[in-house]
Amino acid sequence: MELPFAESYRIKMVESIRRSTRPEREKWIKEAQYNLFNLRSEQVFIDLLTDSGTGAMSDRQWAAMMTGDESYAGASSYYNMKNAIKDILGFDYFLPTHQGRAAENVLFSVLIKEDDIIPGNSHFDTTKGHIEFRRAHAIDCTIDEAADTQKELPFKGNMSIEKLEKVMAEHHEKVPFILITVTNNTAGGQPVSMECIKGVRQVADKYKKPVLIDSARFAENAYFIKTREKGHAQKTIKEIVKEMYTYADAMTMSSKKDAIVNIGGFIATRRKEWFEQASVYNIMFEGFVTYGGMSGRDMNALAVGLDEGTEFDYLETRIKQVAYLGEQLDKYGIPYQRPAGGHAIFVDAKKILHKVPREEFQAQTLGVELYLEAGIRGVEIGAILADRDPQTRENRYPELELLRLAIPRRAYTNNHMDVIAAALKNVYDRRDTITRGYKIVKEAPIMRHFTVGLEPCK
Ligand code: F0G
Repeated sequence: MELPFAESYRIKMVESIRRSTRPEREKWIKEAQYNLFNLRSEQVFIDLLTDSGTGAMSDRQWAAMMTGDESYAGASSYYNMKNAIKDILGFDYFLPTHQGRAAENVLFSVLIKEDDIIPGNSHFDTTKGHIEFRRAHAIDCTIDEAADTQKELPFKGNMSIEKLEKVMAEHHEKVPFILITVTNNTAGGQPVSMECIKGVRQVADKYKKPVLIDSARFAENAYFIKTREKGHAQKTIKEIVKEMYTYADAMTMSSKKDAIVNIGGFIATRRKEWFEQASVYNIMFEGFVTYGGMSGRDMNALAVGLDEGTEFDYLETRIKQVAYLGEQLDKYGIPYQRPAGGHAIFVDAKKILHKVPREEFQAQTLGVELYLEAGIRGVEIGAILADRDPQTRENRYPELELLRLAIPRRAYTNNHMDVIAAALKNVYDRRDTITRGYKIVKEAPIMRHFTVGLEPCK
């Protein structure tokens, strides 16, 4: 008999979580103004709000924490991180930052000016926020197929080279760089192929422009290249990662994802002049160039995390768990962005809650229903997140209304996946009775989803 698959680790430390009752959850979600970000974590049983900073560190990472060097300047922990970045990613220059968006803030302060245009494949919301805050524009060149949740493609996160070419032909004077996001979070944790990364590089070279990679989930992307793209099966994850970055001039990193730490980020580049210019902003916004908002112990854990996070066995365990959740949903016929992504399942709320008008936020409504059903917290990737158009102030309605169920790294077991699937099935079974959603009663001028206040529509 063929042996079943099992995790490539065992558990040495546990954290208790608590179930609650439906009446408790009804009270709590009302107090939270139907915004899942406003819940206290103890009001949540299975927390799928994000895979960012929510992973479990390994014994090796905890051991590295104990030898963190907390010197203000020139700490050994800084050099541990520098060496890991050079060895694994290939960049000579780097700046630590407290997380990914801080890396964006620092590097974009150097690279972006008003009216610039930044083409990319579904810029993440903080990335777009940092672009629009500088009165520049993000143009999404993701392939059209990404919007069809039922279409199975191996690299559904790809940038369309055709769309990119068109943007470049029209606007290249205004383009400071092209941005590739791996994996493509907004499109469902879908990977970008090596062929696509190379293709983007060729377009960039034609117009003499740099390429940046927003790298939050670069290792998961490399796993998909190894397992899905011709010519890469025999390579190690680390070899694939190295190759990916030969096509980039710089990267921004949220280490809270694929470097498996609870906080941290960085900028890495091969351009000395960018490093020098960004250093000024880093000192201003983040901290001195050898710590940039991170403690020595966190830099140590990050260096180890980069190594562990680019090991095949770890990635296989991780990505197969997400796929397992997808398989359970398949059993119940629940539609989600296919195939299953690297870090999350994106449930197709538009298909499920088709009776809820889009102005009443279908994905948010599904998120609240799933919380009420079983204390499971996902996150809306729909019209609330899409925000208002900065010029017209009109609501933007994206093609997709998704409820993201992000799976923290090394934190939950497949029994939890079974509970999530069963809870979603219960909501799915009563989908036709859900006809009304929510209206906004309070919203911030930018990135409103974090603090939005909602009320049920009557
Ligand atoms: N880029 C991508 C692709 C991301 O997914 C994120 C964060 C960032 C940049 C910003 O990094 O949070 O460290 O400042 N994504 C988290 C998420 C928040 O839930 O998807 P950060």
